[in-house]
Amino acid sequence: MRLISTLAAAPGFAAASSILFRGGTIIAFDNATESLQVIRGGSVLVTDDRITTVSETAISVSNDTEVVDITGKILAPGQINTHFHGWQTAFKTLGSNTSLVEYFGRYGEYAAAGLLNAEDVYLSQLAGVLESVNGGVTTILDHAHHTWDNETSEAGLQASVDSGARVYWAYTFHNITTIEPNFLVQDQLANFRSLASNASFKGSPAEISIAYDAFTNGNLGEIRAIMDLAEEFNIPVITTHHVEGPWPLENSPETLLSLNLLNRSIPFVLSHSSFITPRGAELLRSHNHYISITPESEFHYGHTHPTSHLIQDQATIGVDTHFTFSADMLTQTRLWLQTARRTLYSEVLQRWEIPVNNPMSVNQAFLMSTRNGGLSLRRNDLGIIAEGAKADLVLWNAKDSPSLLGWNDPVAAIVLHASVGDIEAVLVDGKWLKRDGKLVMEGYYGEFKERFLQSARRIQNRLVVTPAVVPAVGEEWINGLVIGEAAEVDAKRGEGTGYGRGFLGVNGTQG
Ligand SMILES: *[C@@H]1O[C@H](CO)[C@@H](O)[C@H](O)[C@H]1NC(C)=O
Ligand SMILES: *[C@@H]1O[C@H](CO)[C@@H](O)[C@H](O)[C@H]1NC(C)=O
Ligand SMILES: *[C@@H]1O[C@H](CO)[C@@H](O)[C@H](O)[C@H]1NC(C)=O
Ligand SMILES: *[C@@H]1O[C@H](CO)[C@@H](O)[C@H](O)[C@H]1NC(C)=O
Ligand SMILES: *[C@@H]1O[C@H](CO)[C@@H](O)[C@H](O)[C@H]1NC(C)=O
Ligand SMILES: *[C@@H]1O[C@H](CO)[C@@H](O)[C@H](O)[C@H]1NC(C)=O
Ligand SMILES: *[C@@H]1O[C@H](CO)[C@@H](O)[C@H](O)[C@H]1NC(C)=O
Ligand SMILES: *[C@@H]1O[C@H](CO)[C@@H](O)[C@H](O)[C@H]1NC(C)=O
Repeated sequence: MRLISTLAAAPGFAAASSILFRGGTIIAFDNATESLQVIRGGSVLVTDDRITTVSETAISVSNDTEVVDITGKILAPGQINTHFHGWQTAFKTLGSNTSLVEYFGRYGEYAAAGLLNAEDVYLSQLAGVLESVNGGVTTILDHAHHTWDNETSEAGLQASVDSGARVYWAYTFHNITTIEPNFLVQDQLANFRSLASNASFKGSPAEISIAYDAFTNGNLGEIRAIMDLAEEFNIPVITTHHVEGPWPLENSPETLLSLNLLNRSIPFVLSHSSFITPRGAELLRSHNHYISITPESEFHYGHTHPTSHLIQDQATIGVDTHFTFSADMLTQTRLWLQTARRTLYSEVLQRWEIPVNNPMSVNQAFLMSTRNGGLSLRRNDLGIIAEGAKADLVLWNAKDSPSLLGWNDPVAAIVLHASVGDIEAVLVDGKWLKRDGKLVMEGYYGEFKERFLQSARRIQNRLVVTPAVVPAVGEEWINGLVIGEAAEVDAKRGEGTGYGRGFLGVNGTQG
């Protein structure tokens, strides 16, 4: 099924076995104090896939080590996105004003079955992961719900492997009955087994994981079969959508506890966890499982985050459906930081008092998008720059960027001032995936891009002529709640609101 030769075999991927970064500012991590440690004018030595030396001085090395002068620049750990659906890249810009209700019927795992073939999934997944890498993401927990048949499943895994990124590709078990032939959980158990035992998917940073959304009132036999498979194949993580309150994807910590799943060796990452209860939060703490806050998604679709700021010690940051918004973690991290600040400031203002302090720091935001992501996967060696950690690194060009002129604190420079355009290089497992501001595919990305664009155009052409099926206001939704309407804003002086018709047409013409 592979459509392009493995990226790892492409010329740019040939890794020097040792790379020395010398002369810049390093955002290192001190294991002893569990905190960030800024080193100026230091060195980081990478040997194969690991960081072997972090030094406060310029060190010298043997002449077969590639030396990279990073004077004036910032070397930081790669960011970790703990919630993603890479296959959806082909829908880009189609959902700019979509709602969750419309999403389920148009872009979701059931509605989109049959819309993408295996080649489309491959291209879309690879495009999404590469977009992330370009934006400084080195690890992704991908809730891969494009598992519609054996071929589409394999295609998404293959793309994740070929990307060179550290993708925890979480095979989704779900009953696909919207297409013929149906593809049911029982079929998927066999498909999963075959993919997880296939040696050709090993040896890259990508790993097979599991996603499952039917824990609540679930089929106990099915849950047991999936958990047995997870244990048999030593799956690194299980992820599930968890949105309580008025939303229908419960999968709460309380439910996982009742199924005796919280005390097994496999970590859970619960995406969103909007409306988590105090008891749920306590269960995550006592059993060490994490949530993935996806700030932009929770704004865009309206899950909101009424209590997420209260569980940031067990929280990571994620992206979610990047076809509707940014795939980079910088944007998400910044949004989350300012959201948490606004929430906590509001509490003071509501008491008619004036806040004296700032409730959340850039350090905390940085840790959530790096170190906490690693911890959520029970990987002490991800999301940090420390001796022994994986060489998953991002080099920020803080020397030449007009946005960063005058920076002093490198963490503040990244979290609040930088943009994705300032990312000069990205390494995963000590291999360059981006260098000199470009993805390391050289002429190759151009070819890939053309194939992706043709595939995306085909898919979009079908979607833009398919009318959205949205339930009417007052109708009952899938979970028995009533469909309501949000007040639309008026952004235009005089007549009309400026909402617009949208700019969607066949072959990219104006719709
Ligand atoms: C590089 O190292 C090799 C072997 O250690 C040595 O023979 C060679 O002279 C060195 N070259 C330079 C330019 O230092
Ligand atoms: C799949 O279908 C079976 C049989 O109807 C059901 O018991 C099970 O809960 C379903 N699983 C999911 C993930 O929806
Ligand atoms: C899908 O793969 C599984 C596992 O290899 C196999 O048992 C099954 O027959 C395949 N299904 C189809 C339709 O080829
Ligand atoms: C293993 O995966 C490769 C694709 O990478 C595929 O060509 C091969 O058929 C698979 N083997 C099995 C036994 O499914
Ligand atoms: C998890 O907790 C349940 C209920 O207390 C217990 O029955 C089970 O043996 C525990 N499992 C492990 C792996 O500790
Ligand atoms: C820091 O943590 C990493 C990851 O666990 C570990 O490999 C390394 O040995 C630790 N380094 C020190 C200096 O303790
Ligand atoms: C998005 O906007 C377009 C143009 O106004 C409209 O046709 C469509 O129904 C809107 N979608 C939603 C979910 O509101
Ligand atoms: C869209 O582009 C394709 C490929 O160029 C072409 O075959 C098709 O006729 C175009 N469709 C429309 C409606 O313009």
